[in-house]
Amino acid sequence: MLKMDKNRELTEKFNRIFPGGHSNFRVPLEATENRIFVVRAEGSHVWDVDGNEYIDFQGGMGPNLLGHRHPEYVQGLKALLDTSSTCIGSGVLHTPADVELAEKILRHIPCAERVKFCLSGSEAVQMVIRLARAYTGRPYYIRFGGHYHGWFDNILGGMVDPSPSAEPFPLYDPNSDPFDDLCFTKGRGPNSEKESFLLPWNDLDALEATLEKYGEQIAIIHFEAVVVNHFNLLPRPGYLERIRELCTKYGIVMSIDEVITGFRLGLSGAQGRFGVTPDMATFGKALAGGLPFSAVVGKAEIMEQLRDRTVLGPGTFNGYPLGVQAALTTLKILEKDDGGAYREMDRVQKRLEDGLQELAGKHGRLLRIQSERGVFYTAFGIDKDTVLYTEEDLTSRIDIEATLGFWAGMAQEGILVLAGGRWYMSIVHTDEDVEKTLQAADKVMEAL
Ligand SMILES: Cc1ncc(COP(=O)(O)O)c(C=O)c1O
Repeated sequence: MLKMDKNRELTEKFNRIFPGGHSNFRVPLEATENRIFVVRAEGSHVWDVDGNEYIDFQGGMGPNLLGHRHPEYVQGLKALLDTSSTCIGSGVLHTPADVELAEKILRHIPCAERVKFCLSGSEAVQMVIRLARAYTGRPYYIRFGGHYHGWFDNILGGMVDPSPSAEPFPLYDPNSDPFDDLCFTKGRGPNSEKESFLLPWNDLDALEATLEKYGEQIAIIHFEAVVVNHFNLLPRPGYLERIRELCTKYGIVMSIDEVITGFRLGLSGAQGRFGVTPDMATFGKALAGGLPFSAVVGKAEIMEQLRDRTVLGPGTFNGYPLGVQAALTTLKILEKDDGGAYREMDRVQKRLEDGLQELAGKHGRLLRIQSERGVFYTAFGIDKDTVLYTEEDLTSRIDIEATLGFWAGMAQEGILVLAGGRWYMSIVHTDEDVEKTLQAADKVMEAL
């Protein structure tokens, strides 16, 4: 049992002052009653105010691909802090590192012919929608159920309407179960619900039928190539290729949301991993290894609208030197030895996944590990070989109680995994971390 006295005391104060966490979704409230207050972090470990040590698989919700305080990363940031400014006003002054970083992004990302820096993933997504609307002169965009693209009114949550009377706008139901729409929010602008069409993921018939009717009104299709925000649902074989063909056919901008997958799945992101090149893509999270920084990249003819000011993309902190330095240092670390850090992460991740699978067998549990490089899900109740593609694949089989019980039990053992069983790997997780994690998992599965 972890000692929690100081954590509890701070939780009470925190909850009195902050209405919700710094980021909030409709998750079970127990987590907010048991907050953990971190005072130290190193590599793949964090320590709290009560002196508990944790192995961190939460990855700061994605950015911490390098782990905490990676020595070269810290050195890179210090070098800037020792000699120059953290902020010089975007569009006012620039640094040579702007160019060096952009050149690296162009080299690695297949669709990147031009780059624009922003601060958060949410902002990058809004930028890409604006650019696509301006480029095509069309009003609507298509997104898919279960994908997440930030907190703005026009993109957050909603459910797929099973039988839309006309355009397939998202369904918003204030009484929906959080499991149906984790991202429901009140307070949206009145027109935001009618900006996008929300379609089921991996359903080509639905996509083709929608495009047949409304293709000429769609500016952009924006989606996660692997739905990391929802159990890593994979694209069916040929699905991404068909989206590519349909976008070309209807003159729609194809945009992959690489905010999580960018530089996590490899230096060329999901588009490199699946070999399908979109017109645009958004990056964030791991790009700067733990500082706020995002990027929109894409085809020159779309991005050039920013140069002639047909499209505006202002922002005081865009391209701020500390963020640029953080991203540049991150990419230098990841590029080393021809991506050696990724190979080591693959090895450790495989050991961990194999070990968890073996333990599930020992405890007579079905366990599907839905895995991509650097991020995997543990979904109990599903056979290990059943690849999850759709919401139906998941909800018809998953043992929610065991899946959530395992996640909560691991936290009690000092193993931090994101809610629902999402594990983020870093390049600094070790064999020792794997051993300790498997010992904890053995205990937790025994008690499930
Ligand atoms: C795929 C994806 N796109 C966009 C965002 C929004 O990024 P941010 O939280 O930095 O605004 C997220 C955040 O989780 C994400 O996972």
